[in-house]
Amino acid sequence: MCGIIGYTGKKNATQVLVKGLSRLEYRGYDSAGVAVIRDQELVIRKKKGKLSVLRDDLKKDPIQGKTGIGHTRWATHGVPNDVNAHPHYDHKEKIAIVHNGIIENYLDLKKMLERKGYKFVSETDSEAIAHLISSNYKGDLRKAVQDSAKQMEGSYSIAAVHKGEPGRIVGMRNDSPLIIGIGEGENFIASDIPAVLDYTKKVVYLDNKEIVDLNEKTVLVYGPNGRKKKKKEVEIKWDISQAEKNGFRHFMLKEIFEQPEVIKNILEERIEKENVKFDELKITKNQLKKTKKIAIVACGTAYHAGLTAQYAIEEVAKVPVWVDTSSEFRYRDPLVDKETLVIVVSQSGETADTLAALREAREKGAKVLAICNVLGSSIAREADGVIYTHAGPEIAVASTKAYTAQLVVLYLFAYYLASARGSKKNSGFIKEIKSLPAAAKKLLDQYSSKRNKIAKYASEFHEYYLARNNKSCFLYLGRNVNYPNAIEGALKLKEISYISAEGYPAGEMKHGPIALIDENPWVVCIAVKGATYEKMLSNIQEIKARGGIIIAIATEGDAKLKKSKVEYVIETPRIKELFSPAIVVIPLQLLAYYVAAEFGYDIDQPRNLAKSVTVE
Ligand code: AGP
Repeated sequence: MCGIIGYTGKKNATQVLVKGLSRLEYRGYDSAGVAVIRDQELVIRKKKGKLSVLRDDLKKDPIQGKTGIGHTRWATHGVPNDVNAHPHYDHKEKIAIVHNGIIENYLDLKKMLERKGYKFVSETDSEAIAHLISSNYKGDLRKAVQDSAKQMEGSYSIAAVHKGEPGRIVGMRNDSPLIIGIGEGENFIASDIPAVLDYTKKVVYLDNKEIVDLNEKTVLVYGPNGRKKKKKEVEIKWDISQAEKNGFRHFMLKEIFEQPEVIKNILEERIEKENVKFDELKITKNQLKKTKKIAIVACGTAYHAGLTAQYAIEEVAKVPVWVDTSSEFRYRDPLVDKETLVIVVSQSGETADTLAALREAREKGAKVLAICNVLGSSIAREADGVIYTHAGPEIAVASTKAYTAQLVVLYLFAYYLASARGSKKNSGFIKEIKSLPAAAKKLLDQYSSKRNKIAKYASEFHEYYLARNNKSCFLYLGRNVNYPNAIEGALKLKEISYISAEGYPAGEMKHGPIALIDENPWVVCIAVKGATYEKMLSNIQEIKARGGIIIAIATEGDAKLKKSKVEYVIETPRIKELFSPAIVVIPLQLLAYYVAAEFGYDIDQPRNLAKSVTVE
């Protein structure tokens, strides 16, 4: 996934583009570039590496101009280097484009264009778009882009400029997000809202196959048939400070500490006395009554939220649930029909596999409910119904507050579904779920100082790891509602510290993984009080007996666990077991964070990853 931006107005375009790209870096950061129209010339500057490399280069040798486009890349075709970085010229260097997505038929286009004498210089699929627009250009950039769209297959959001049309930017999207920022005497185009929020809160969401033609004064949107379309302007409710670190060393740490507030806001917004409300849902209670089974479909951390929600929905609403990764669901010819509710969970609302799974489910007649964080995202707009988590922008690639927000929304949805199907109000459920924000805050208050217990454990692991020539790994074990947290904790650790880690249902230890246990793996055991607490204590003894080093996640005041002589204990406030995953995950997030910090890695932008995987 990449980030694209365009600007036209009275400001220094290069400065606006670089600032906007800094707000989009979470989408990809292996190279970056800008194209600016300067005195009828089209100047491109692009560099391998983080945005800071390009920024330093532009400081030394600035490009003055009022119109331009920019790009920060997550490589799909072609290694990260200066040539493969965007923007890309056409062969006459009159047109420049930036692209997010994959052009599935780019090899055919490339062959056709090379036969016409176009010379390719990069290994990317995106460069074909520049030459294709050039081959269709007859004096009107929008027309050329419109005609090129008919020849392109795959996912794309693009912005294009022509040196002979200063002040004009043409954009287009298909299955990759693109928004328009409406300014005063200036206009913007970008992959995501944070890129324009320093300048305007007024945005327009482009839909698939729509084309935008903008200059500093006007914004015109056209449908695929070339006819003008009226689009609604949306006022963004949050401000750019929420997309800044506000004194934290990393976005990830800031977002971990935002969780009590996020959970509190969700509960206040969604609970009215003993009722739960989802105004934006659109799927009626009557339709929910007819639901015979539920499939929850997602990727990564969102998938783990789905695994956790399965327990809650089955316990509270008594509807059978199965959970699938989007990439598996979409290719298995899933047994879903009009009596199935498919819940797709996605923080970004742009994950390609989840979007495809949504379409597959709808084709089969299922009702699709999206649980998303990004307003107006593709998944939110294509689902039959949506519930927004309203966690605010999540910038760190490693998802934290979006995960707990998904859990809380899914807990509330379980209650909502139960009441839609005639269950009586359950004041115990409402009372208990309302205790989550205070429990999360009480836990986090113990870790607000830099030298806290979990940071100390991380530093001890780091020494242990180095003393064994960089050899060791982590095993995460959990049971029942906290089994998905074992996988989530392992994912957090590996995606930001690059250390091998595996999450496992503790009951499965004897069926193989216990062979791993010697003094090498560090074993995180989720042993909070609950239905399978005693079973976890036995697993802990089995690991101790084989020399394993244990970090136990415990319920505060658990003297019994302390007596089991585990090396490390992290206590968590007591909470109804069903809701405990929203609390238990917090120390797992902190452990991953502090281990990665010990290794000095780029926690917010880990290698090889991007915030939202908008390509397959
Ligand atoms: C989680 O920390 C990862 N960044 C990743 O697994 C992520 O959860 C996954 O790509 C799904 O993203 P989405 O929620 O935006 O669809």
